[in-house]
Amino acid sequence: MTAPQITVVGSVNLDLVARAETLPVAGETVTGATFAQHPGGKGANQALAARRLGADGSMIARVGRDANAEAALALLKRDGVDLFGIVEDEDDATGVALIAVDAQGENQIVVASGANANLSASDVRKTSACDAVLCQLEVPVAAVMAASDIETSLFAINLAPAMPAPIGLLERADLLIVNEVEAAFYGDNLHRGDGLVALTLGGAGAVLYRSGKELVHMPVFSVPVVDTTGAGDTFCGALVLALAEGQDPGEALRFASAAGALAVTKEGAQPSLPTREEVEAFLKTQG
Ligand code: RIB
Repeated sequence: MTAPQITVVGSVNLDLVARAETLPVAGETVTGATFAQHPGGKGANQALAARRLGADGSMIARVGRDANAEAALALLKRDGVDLFGIVEDEDDATGVALIAVDAQGENQIVVASGANANLSASDVRKTSACDAVLCQLEVPVAAVMAASDIETSLFAINLAPAMPAPIGLLERADLLIVNEVEAAFYGDNLHRGDGLVALTLGGAGAVLYRSGKELVHMPVFSVPVVDTTGAGDTFCGALVLALAEGQDPGEALRFASAAGALAVTKEGAQPSLPTREEVEAFLKTQG
């Protein structure tokens, strides 16, 4: 099978991660954390996830003219994601995400968008035809609108983080991917188009809908939870890859759920993204 060409239009961040026993509440200081720095950003994570699982991947994004850009792009570069569409921003710094992770693997994330906020429709319009386009909402909606015009047979949006988006954009998508918080934000608008809607439910698994009707429910795979950061991104990259390969929706959902499950078993977003071999080996153990 030829590897599907998947273009991701989205964010690139450098993740600064503090791992502590508990997450702070407003006004609280938590001490005793350990620190790590990893490449991240929902866009970059999803591009790398699809690439590790077998895509011929490329990324459209903006980074700053700074040292953080090199660190943030290091794993995309190493794993062969095409970075021809990365623009160096003249004005703003590479995006940074401050991430706190607790002993149960739950996280809190604050993103300083920097150059991601300047990704423009014209940055995106240079993109040529591909098998699938995958976007998120850590970049301006205008860039995502421009991405919806790229010639492709699968236009997907991970509506994360939730923010206002034109109904026409949601209707145009062949696949929308949301978690429970995002699903509550968009409500019935998710189901106005003819595309698939994937809803991730944490410990209750994931569901695929079409036209508001449930097609398939996949229970969660039971794995030790180390760090949930990037698990949703892994699910998105894997689901788009599987659908672009022609897997049927049920198979694709199982594949994506397995990839997402493996991502929570390791620390960090990009360092935890599984390979195709790891996902296939894991699925064999699940009967
Ligand atoms: O989804 C996880 C990602 O969200 C992190 O890598 C962080 O950069 C934020 O964008």
